Amino acid sequence: MTTDLKGRSFLTLADFTAEEITAVLEAAAELKRERAAGMRRETHVGKTLALLFQKPSLRTRVSFDVAMHELGGDALYLGPEEVGVGKRESIADVATVLSRYVHGVAARVFGHEIVESLVEYGTVPVINGLSDLLHPCQVLADLMTVHERFGKFEGLTLVYVGDGNNVANSLMLGGAVVGLNVTVVTPAGFEPPAEIISRARKLARRSGAKVAATNDLSAANGADVLYTDVWASMGQEDVAARKKEAFRGFTVDAEMLAAAAPHAIVLHCLPAHYGEEITEDVARGPQSAIWDEAENRLHAQKALLAMLL
Ligand code: CP
Ligand code: NVA
Repeated sequence: MTTDLKGRSFLTLADFTAEEITAVLEAAAELKRERAAGMRRETHVGKTLALLFQKPSLRTRVSFDVAMHELGGDALYLGPEEVGVGKRESIADVATVLSRYVHGVAARVFGHEIVESLVEYGTVPVINGLSDLLHPCQVLADLMTVHERFGKFEGLTLVYVGDGNNVANSLMLGGAVVGLNVTVVTPAGFEPPAEIISRARKLARRSGAKVAATNDLSAANGADVLYTDVWASMGQEDVAARKKEAFRGFTVDAEMLAAAAPHAIVLHCLPAHYGEEITEDVARGPQSAIWDEAENRLHAQKALLAMLL
């Protein structure tokens, strides 16, 4: 049976089954092979995706734009100055009106409730291109990269070292669904929200994955995948200096990588702050899969668009 995701929104990986995520990842791998062979599948001629962004972006914006273009459709970027979601106009009205023009909305927002409202008031699929709470499109590409490198999820452990943020939250939920063990290591006071940890643990009961959150950096020893992200996310610029103090020792560097499994790969969603959460030698070193990870945003989201729209 083929997996039918038409008309669905993608706000969190927790709303999807392991079978559904696997179907998207398989489609992504196929689209990646076809693109390398110079083939295109223009299945979405006449369809438009709105990119409704409250925050800056390189990867998310460009990968969605190129993906939509390569499917034969169009993407329309709407930055914070253009729309003023919730300021110039209510979220409900933006959602209702946009649904009359476009066939899908990829949104990058501050409060997660904004993407939920876009679903509530709109009639077209909404894709979460990052909220303060979650970053599911990133983790879709991360899962694709892990599977590409190891050919499986079961029995592997991804250790995320850093801030208990949107990326860490989505890694726990996504790993729990597909059966990848995820350990999040943060300084005290920067753990992921308790509700996310317990949701991930519930999801993990079905897949058999282990989900852990700790302040003990030795949890990174033996990791198959070492993952990190910025210490201060977009919107936290005012606390960046204070966080730098609290995160001392949490840098993914050559020493931490040497204590991981010998076959370990390193991931980072980017943008990176070299010398803070990761060193440039590790990011550009032989164990880094960061650049494939960034590329996989395109293939994973193209598959997602092809299946939802
Ligand atoms: N990783 C990621 O989402 O990058 P951008 O913020 O550049 O989109
Ligand atoms: N946690 C980061 C991810 C950027 C892609 C942020 O929200 O800024």
